[in-house]
Amino acid sequence: MTTDGTHHHPGLPDVPIHSVDLSEAEAFFRQHAAENPHAPDPDERFSEALVEFGRRGAFSHTSEELEFGAQVAWRNANRCIGRLYWRSLIVRDRRNVRTADGVAAECVEHLRVATNGGRIRPVLTLFAPDQPGRPAPRLHNAQLIRYAGYQGLDSVIGDPAQTEFTRWAESLGWSGKGTDFDVLPLAIETPEDGVRLFDIPGDAVLEVPLTHPEFPWFAELDLRWHAVPAISSMPLRIGGITYRTAPFNGWYMGTEIGSRNLVDADRYDRMTQVGRLLGLNVDDVRTLWKDRVLVEINRAVLHSFDAAGVKIADHHHESELFMRFVAKEERAGRTPHAEWSWVVPPMSGTTSPVYHRYYDDSTALPGFLPSPGWTPPQDGDAPAGCPHHAQTGA
Ligand code: ARG
Repeated sequence: MTTDGTHHHPGLPDVPIHSVDLSEAEAFFRQHAAENPHAPDPDERFSEALVEFGRRGAFSHTSEELEFGAQVAWRNANRCIGRLYWRSLIVRDRRNVRTADGVAAECVEHLRVATNGGRIRPVLTLFAPDQPGRPAPRLHNAQLIRYAGYQGLDSVIGDPAQTEFTRWAESLGWSGKGTDFDVLPLAIETPEDGVRLFDIPGDAVLEVPLTHPEFPWFAELDLRWHAVPAISSMPLRIGGITYRTAPFNGWYMGTEIGSRNLVDADRYDRMTQVGRLLGLNVDDVRTLWKDRVLVEINRAVLHSFDAAGVKIADHHHESELFMRFVAKEERAGRTPHAEWSWVVPPMSGTTSPVYHRYYDDSTALPGFLPSPGWTPPQDGDAPAGCPHHAQTGA
């Protein structure tokens, strides 16, 4: 995204992501009709939208259009290895929910529907887009569930990726227990109420304590992770309209937790600690101790989720499914888009068929737009980060 809010889609005209684009709407109605036998005639549908737009400077999608659009946004998600089941995305149309309490309750309900007692279901909840004179509710969290990060003098308790957000939540009156795994509150902003924080009820957050199939000491590390990864920072662009508050989730692939969240130097950074406990020589990289640590942490993640009855993918099986997705897309006459460095698993890459080819990495719409990047709203930022002030009715 450039500073003027323009998002570049190779092959598409520059899209100012917060304004309505009618030619994009028209193209979407055509795509909807082409892929869905029961969809309305795209020419009629488009004239209807034009009339509505002429009358009030905005138009609305139908729930069917949003369901299809959100599913295709998943199909187009370049960085996602898990797209084979894009048609199964459950779309909850909550455009009528505008109060902070209402948005919070719907986010919690999203988590319950998605968690489903461990049989995780892909879900997207869609809130109203910005409209002329009517800014949409906004969610400040990067994901519905994230752990707080408390910055100490030279170390962090919790998730270092969340220190800025945590400090901001604290400045608004939130306080966590101070453990490594305190679930952050939802921070919801509406024009009426400004920012309000909501604690997520504990029974809406399924978590898995991590144990290892062979090493009893692993449990004493007191590591855990939540079951549902629900991204809430990526605007969803469908048919010429940006839905900036549209949290969505799939289920985890083990390596996201075992090779990244718990291991990255700027996240929980447990590589050396686990290496020592495994009795490895952590002073000599050529012993490949890091590689062995990755294997054992990833085994612990898969083992623990399995033991808890919580759905999780492993990178070998998920790679097979991705190749099926690629083949299926090609059979349907579509180009499967992917970013190689994201879809190749962050462990044992060459053992995955995903590694052994290149992909077209251009982006397509409908799609999820890159997170605008979060900075704490400053005092005096009228509804922080909401673009409606710059909006001119288009
Ligand atoms: N990698 C992110 C995390 O660990 C989640 C990204 C989405 N992942 C997914 N399986 N849908 O929190």
